Amino acid sequence: MKTVNLAVLAGDGIGPEIMNQAQSVLRCLKKAGVIDIQIQEALVGGVSIRDSGTAITNSTLDMVKAADAVLFGAVGDYSFDHLPQSQRPEIAILKLRKELELFANIRPIIIFNELVSNSNLKEEVLKDVDFIIVRELTGDIYFGEPRGEKIVKGVRYGFNTMTYSEPEIERIAKVGFKLAEARKKKVTSVDKANVLETMQVWRDVVSRVSESFKDIELQHMYVDNAAMQLISSPAQFDVIVTGNIFGDILSDQASMITGSIGLLPSASLNESLFGLYEPIHGSAPDIAYKNKANPIAMILSTAMMFRHSFERSDLADLIEKAVRLTLEKRVGTLDICKGDWKEIGTDEMGNEVCKELNKLC
Ligand code: IPM
Ligand code: MG
Repeated sequence: MKTVNLAVLAGDGIGPEIMNQAQSVLRCLKKAGVIDIQIQEALVGGVSIRDSGTAITNSTLDMVKAADAVLFGAVGDYSFDHLPQSQRPEIAILKLRKELELFANIRPIIIFNELVSNSNLKEEVLKDVDFIIVRELTGDIYFGEPRGEKIVKGVRYGFNTMTYSEPEIERIAKVGFKLAEARKKKVTSVDKANVLETMQVWRDVVSRVSESFKDIELQHMYVDNAAMQLISSPAQFDVIVTGNIFGDILSDQASMITGSIGLLPSASLNESLFGLYEPIHGSAPDIAYKNKANPIAMILSTAMMFRHSFERSDLADLIEKAVRLTLEKRVGTLDICKGDWKEIGTDEMGNEVCKELNKLC
């Protein structure tokens, strides 16, 4: 494998702790001689605001643009909640998504056999659950203009704009249909076309794109119904394609099917498959610096990086297998520990995964 240049942005809260463990996994693979990776690190989010007054500097953006892929931890820090949205830590990830055109966010919902009883859902409901949420990531109400605040007749208003263009919908729909081709051949497009014009355009474009994918079954579902179906019968889904805001909400909800949000990775890709890889959870300030965070989502994000950006599914499989073998040992961080399991910290969890990986390499 040629040397790959990786940008590592650990960010706030639990970000640095879980990123350390992802880096241990990379060191393991490097030691075993299966990869050659150069790493450059930079601050993002609240830590960057403290350091340089901005959530992401131009030099960090340049570093990221020159890299082959990005590993991203988490951003968010309550102490900046008083600032306007454009100056908060979260702007770092939003800027990266927009500037790198990372429009396709892939969030797989993975069930680990050992953790089935952690879910609030009954075991029979979890049977055969295996789906992917494809969330559009650079449009919608997150970026729509106009946005802001105004005072009208002494009353304060906030406003944002939900908007999607046909090309934006078309490209994300294609990602969903292509993924479904290699899976159970079903796409569920989630919208709110019964109320929102933006979402009628969404539905029409997804229907049109589906005509080029004759062997894929397309189902349209309103977002409120989708929220219900995710809990009542999650096994019906294969690939869910949805917009930015609905995808944000539904993917947090879907993570609970698996028992912990600390388990789920994601890939954010552009047209040329350049990718940013991050857990779907946030910075979890309540458990930060306590060696309590689950590093699995970050480690599995690293696996996704090998699969999507470097065409090394073999390495992705290795990492995923090491995680499964670790869970089989009935050890876990606070969020997944139960019954006779042994509770261990972030570092130990990373060590256990590395031990399994060493045996596999
Ligand atoms: C996510 C997060 C982000 C989002 C925040 C941190 C801006 O919740 O990746 O799901 O809303 O997209
Ligand atoms: Mg979110």
